[in-house]
Amino acid sequence: MAFSDTTFVNLSIFMLLLASNVSAQSSFRPPALVLPVRKDASTLQYVTKINQRTPSVSLNVVLDLGGQFLWVDCDKNYISSTYRPVRCRSAQCSLAGNDGCGNCTNGPKPGCNTNTCVVFPDNTVTHTATGGEVAQDSLTAASTDGSNPGRSVTVPQFIFGCGSTFLLKGLASGTVGMAGLGRARIGLPSQLSAAFSFHKKFAICLSTSYTVDGVVFFGDGPYNFLPNVEAAGFLQYTPLFINPVSTAGVSSQGEPSDEYFIGVKSIRVGEKAVKLNNTLLTIDRQGYGGTKISTVNPYTVLETSIFKAVTNAFISEAATRNISRVPGVAPFEVCFSSENVLGTRLGASVPYIDLVLQGQNVVWTITGSNSMVYVNDNVLCLGFVDGGLNPRTSIVIGGYQLEDLLLQFDLATSRLGFTSTLLGAQTTCSNFNFTSTA
Ligand SMILES: *[C@@H]1O[C@H](CO)[C@@H](O)[C@H](O)[C@H]1NC(C)=O
Ligand SMILES: *[C@@H]1O[C@H](CO)[C@@H](O)[C@H](O)[C@H]1NC(C)=O
Ligand SMILES: *[C@@H]1O[C@H](CO)[C@@H](O)[C@H](O)[C@H]1NC(C)=O
Ligand SMILES: *[C@@H]1O[C@H](CO)[C@@H](O)[C@H](O)[C@H]1NC(C)=O
Repeated sequence: MAFSDTTFVNLSIFMLLLASNVSAQSSFRPPALVLPVRKDASTLQYVTKINQRTPSVSLNVVLDLGGQFLWVDCDKNYISSTYRPVRCRSAQCSLAGNDGCGNCTNGPKPGCNTNTCVVFPDNTVTHTATGGEVAQDSLTAASTDGSNPGRSVTVPQFIFGCGSTFLLKGLASGTVGMAGLGRARIGLPSQLSAAFSFHKKFAICLSTSYTVDGVVFFGDGPYNFLPNVEAAGFLQYTPLFINPVSTAGVSSQGEPSDEYFIGVKSIRVGEKAVKLNNTLLTIDRQGYGGTKISTVNPYTVLETSIFKAVTNAFISEAATRNISRVPGVAPFEVCFSSENVLGTRLGASVPYIDLVLQGQNVVWTITGSNSMVYVNDNVLCLGFVDGGLNPRTSIVIGGYQLEDLLLQFDLATSRLGFTSTLLGAQTTCSNFNFTSTA
């Protein structure tokens, strides 16, 4: 069989169209992408900015390190010519985990169409989840060479979940959803690295400031901070673990968690080992125990027996330095007079808390900058809270303990890279140069 001339012409037009389509997206391949992230003063949530829809709108969404995917409120003010519901039984639906099929009868409109794929957007702050349509729309972000934001790039059909207005309750004011950086196949890291074929890695650097942005990088380093500090050079590494039992609000049996767990093997306070129940440090078959990292918990949460052991060790170490205890200030139980506490480059001069991790001599040292919270001029408190008996996860390392550190999550090799406080390298997470070079 031979092609007729017309077939050939049609075919080559088709190929041309295909080629121009592809080149529009791939002529510039960004090495990495960058998003700003700012701490909200009233909720202590970390809020990032994405550009979605056609015409593009800038949206504030709460950063959720362990969240499964991006979800936004589709009920209110969703206007876009490029919104597409994801059909039931489509390839995108199975990527999204295929929680079911829906027929919404008040539509068609964003968030409400027939024969669509359903997921469960999860407000991980209030622990509320609701069924919502899976959809695709264009998402735009700035590329980066590691030093500045550069030209913008677009993922034309970024997959996300539709939440509802009521699901926003408890989130920072002005936000319209949550950006999940978890390991799910439709999580931001997986979709962005697939769209631009860069390393399945991302990094976060949370700022302590309510007015100056910290940063999220998708892709590999360099990660440069003013004045000329390449923070990836300071990373130490420890394995990331997968909790075999989902920690999401709604899940099917046998589904693993999309959150990031690490192996804390022991804890030291002022270089002395604290006696702990080691069973609590590992994840059991029901998915209980272990240590995870979370950006929706403002402070580290410790199971009661761990909380008691660590705070008692801290109180007695502090006493040897004449740092005296004063009544707690909620949510903190353990507070001190600032009288004998000096300020240092690494924060208040208090005993260090070391998380001894899986790996050869890998230690996450929490210095005063990340352990002590100044509640007023005279009082500072240990920024850890009691998580009660039998919590799902024994140690949840929260936002305050992550600030001014660079954390890099490598999904391909299941490895966490973390630095000690960047204050030691004379920079902070507020020092990424957001002046665009585009
Ligand atoms: C949704 O409606 C379509 C068309 O009416 C029908 O074929 C399909 O079975 C319905 N699906 C569900 C989940 O009800
Ligand atoms: C240690 O923790 C496990 C899990 O909660 C519990 O079953 C066990 O009784 C604890 N052991 C001690 C000695 O308290
Ligand atoms: C602690 O205070 C006592 C009494 O005020 C004093 O004698 C001692 O030298 C102080 N110790 C330190 C380490 O500052
Ligand atoms: C930030 O980046 C811009 C663009 O490259 C540059 O002109 C500016 O000097 C940088 N700022 C600092 C403080 O280095």
